[in-house]
Amino acid sequence: MWDFTSPRKVIFGEDAIEYLSEQSFKHAFIVTDPFVKKTHLPLIEKQLQQINAQITVFDEVQGEPTLDVVQKGVQLLSMTNPDVIIALGGGSVIDTAKGMWPVWASPLDGMDAIEGLNPFAVLDLRKKTNCILINIPTTSGTGSDVTWATVLTDNTGEVDRKGSFGNRELVADVTILDPVFTKTMPSHLIAGTGLDALSHAIEGYLSTWQNDFSDALLLHAFKLIWRNLPTAYEQAKEGEVDYIIREKLHNAATMAGWGFGNSQIILGHSLGHSIGAGFKIPHSQCIGTTTWYSLVYNRHIAVERIADLAHAVGLEGSSNQELTNKLILAMKELLLQLNLPLSLKDMKIDKNSFNDRIEDVIDFALNDSGTLSNPRPVDYEDYVKIFNYLYEGKEIDF
Ligand SMILES: [Fe+2]
Repeated sequence: MWDFTSPRKVIFGEDAIEYLSEQSFKHAFIVTDPFVKKTHLPLIEKQLQQINAQITVFDEVQGEPTLDVVQKGVQLLSMTNPDVIIALGGGSVIDTAKGMWPVWASPLDGMDAIEGLNPFAVLDLRKKTNCILINIPTTSGTGSDVTWATVLTDNTGEVDRKGSFGNRELVADVTILDPVFTKTMPSHLIAGTGLDALSHAIEGYLSTWQNDFSDALLLHAFKLIWRNLPTAYEQAKEGEVDYIIREKLHNAATMAGWGFGNSQIILGHSLGHSIGAGFKIPHSQCIGTTTWYSLVYNRHIAVERIADLAHAVGLEGSSNQELTNKLILAMKELLLQLNLPLSLKDMKIDKNSFNDRIEDVIDFALNDSGTLSNPRPVDYEDYVKIFNYLYEGKEIDF
């Protein structure tokens, strides 16, 4: 038996934000970060003022969200008692809001409520808090607005520990996809977040947990990103914004999140998560590279499904292997075009810190869920080789 979890509503397109002024909220608790507060919060406030909703803003989220920020947010949230939490921002903001909600709902458990999250727990979040969650992503990448996991770092001990905590009740009631929020994205952010979304589409499609429903979302998301990302990047470099293209990418990022959230990610994300934790490289800066390694590592085992992806974007070949090889080549060209790194060396990780940290990094990768759902088995010895090839930018030949 499988379970496919979706948000109750996806509001999308130009002026999607007006959905807020058609509701009857009494008190909105907005989670955001200082940059988005300046650039986009006024648009939300304008909508909520039309329905005379009271507004409380928590704006202390930063990149790589931490448990102590979640705790701070919950302190304010529990004094506020809102009937809607609105997460306005990128993946870090949305993950923080998703972490705050179960802690607020279980005051006796406090921060242990996050450690206790698992896919099978009954949390009764909506009943206990009389509140719903609305996500408004301002980047087109993580898909966190429709997934049921939150990635948070515990920075309270001697060593930072990054963990993914999940429960299906964390899937938002509503996600609002208004392309207006992506207008301030600079070209490098469009490239990095776009590659993250592309990776979700590829990896969710190749995962051993793929299913008919996730396939439908992921294949179309892959097409939309492949066709539109290079243009959006080139336009952003010139300071141009084409809202039709931005909307395609914004929708595709959510579709990819919706798909992989109900399938799984694979090797590219195991590598990306462990590099992020071990060498402090932002997810969006390494995930394109590691996804390329994931494609190459899986090129023979997942040949039919990689060929499907190649077909979807109009590549031609007389065999599945030829199509697979063409997609791998095209993906490398895409990374170069978007000015993304091709190796750990390119990411400015020096050899000494690589050698110092590699055992911890491999341990992290082995325990990442992407290792389990990768089509080709991957063990400790494989990871040693993969990481060494990845460091040098050498193509996998084993
Ligand atoms: Fe990702």
